[in-house]
Amino acid sequence: MAGKIPQDFINELLSRIDIINIIDAYVPLKKTGRNHKACCPFHDEKTPSFSVNQEKQFYYCFGCNANGTAITFLMEHLHMGFIEAIEDLAARAGMEVPRDAGNTSDANIQSKKLYELMELVNNFYLEQLENNKNSKTVHKYLHERNINKEVVTEFQLGYAPPGWDNIVSELGKSDESIKNLLSIGVIIENDRGGYYDRFRDRLIFPIRDQRNRVIGFGGRVLDDGVPKYLNSPETPIFQKGRELYGLSQARKALKNFNEIYIVEGYMDVIALAQYGIKNVVACLGTAATAEHLEKMFRITNKLVFCFDGDTAGKKAAWRALENSLTLLRNGRQVHFIFLPDNEDPDSFVRENGKESFLSTKMLVPLSEFLFNSISQKINLEILEGRSEMINKTLPYLNKLPPDPYKDIIVKELSKITSYEINDIKNQLSKAIDLNPKTINKKNSNTKQEKGIEKIRWLIRCLLHQPKLALNVNVTNSLSSIESPGIVFLCEMIGFIKKNPDITLAGILENWRDTKFQKRLFELASDENEFKEIGVTEEVFVDAINGLIVGNEKKFETFKTKKSPVELTEKEREKYREMQKTSEN
Ligand code: GTP
Ligand code: MN
Repeated sequence: MAGKIPQDFINELLSRIDIINIIDAYVPLKKTGRNHKACCPFHDEKTPSFSVNQEKQFYYCFGCNANGTAITFLMEHLHMGFIEAIEDLAARAGMEVPRDAGNTSDANIQSKKLYELMELVNNFYLEQLENNKNSKTVHKYLHERNINKEVVTEFQLGYAPPGWDNIVSELGKSDESIKNLLSIGVIIENDRGGYYDRFRDRLIFPIRDQRNRVIGFGGRVLDDGVPKYLNSPETPIFQKGRELYGLSQARKALKNFNEIYIVEGYMDVIALAQYGIKNVVACLGTAATAEHLEKMFRITNKLVFCFDGDTAGKKAAWRALENSLTLLRNGRQVHFIFLPDNEDPDSFVRENGKESFLSTKMLVPLSEFLFNSISQKINLEILEGRSEMINKTLPYLNKLPPDPYKDIIVKELSKITSYEINDIKNQLSKAIDLNPKTINKKNSNTKQEKGIEKIRWLIRCLLHQPKLALNVNVTNSLSSIESPGIVFLCEMIGFIKKNPDITLAGILENWRDTKFQKRLFELASDENEFKEIGVTEEVFVDAINGLIVGNEKKFETFKTKKSPVELTEKEREKYREMQKTSEN
């Protein structure tokens, strides 16, 4: 949970501050009805969809889904760390943050150690760039590639010197530090039980997360050796599908983003930054994942993918298109820049300059890329070709969420193929029915799934109206129901009863940094629930009783089977268990 700071303190703190005052200081809010509104600070918009609810102490943006508590706001808007956010709020409330060493979770201490060690390794590489006796080669390399001092400093480029044991002998002085160096992936164990440095004689690119902590490295050879790049492996603090190289530097350099450029290479980020284009990130040798895209759409609603002009680049662009379709709503846009063959953003900006790179003439909107790619080998002059075009496009259109954007694309497909808009829509809904995933879902809508659905609904009710828990007793017949989620539901009821004045924000913060955090924040910001005014006590208690009765009925069904012989082995086991709980 919260590590060093006791949870009770965080609850108390949240009850003393008001999210409205906190946010209003940075994003002026206007009261409308039950909520306070503003244009969202997490994405670009002209009409306000950012909404703050005082009673729940929770904010939510209908446009980009940004959501959270006052603590989240300070972390995301002002880029504070968790502890820093707590300290900031405590200072406002005139409270002293207690330091309870005994309460620090082991996992937190461990990851803190890894981050600190990462910083030490980074400092070592930085220092070697200046002082290593071989660093001439790397300076020559930087000079030949025209990389200037400013960006070397801005991106903290470093140097891993030649040799097999620089890091081990510098930082691996105890068994524990060796273990930690292995865990962050900068050293590797050999067959004989010894250790050697992963990065040797390479230019080093430190990778930072959104909180500006070093979490990994990329290392480039200084000649034509292979592999050209070595990257840190996935570690407890580094997940490639989540991190974007350059984002931390971009956020430092810019307050607002009109768009974000996504390029392929470290060198592309560096070169564009040197030419004054700071809103650039690179995915770390992977395709842009939905998580990457979601992260960027929180910052801006226009993404521009600029990949190399080769086949690999085109393929990467198509993957990016496929991964972004489901996210295109509320004015979000995706564009592509296709560079000439054998060019990458680095070479292009050096040859043609900043203005050419930024020229809107370069942009190919996603819709154009989609239609052109599909129609490339199709003869639209003939009827067969037009029907092929429709069939090949439908699966992509199906991924688009309901939004005017989808309507316009449907209209365009209709224009290209002279097929009626309504007929396309008709085909789209049929295609959804034929989707194997949804069919499976329909068939497997079993009693157990319905049970989970009910529990999820109860949890959602409690998030939005915590007081509902006060009239519920966590009896044996409730807690022994066999369904995923029941343990959590009971725990949540217990927590609220212990803290009867808790708000939505307080509940969320109680489960920060646990496996429930993501799901809970999602449930809390479900658009309909956020607007919903209420469930009565009666309805809620009835629903709980319904769960219990439903479970007992299952028990009855077992009992009415004539003899235990007729039960399967699995049923028999359940039967025994149920007898046990009913005896309690
Ligand atoms: P330069 O050739 O120095 O201009 O590098 P670049 O940044 O233009 O790299 P390139 O376009 O060749 O590759 C794009 C990205 O893919 C790199 O920044 C790396 O993240 C990754 N990459 C390229 N080559 C390798 C490799 O050999 N191994 C691994 N693991 N990743 C690579
Ligand atoms: Mn390059």
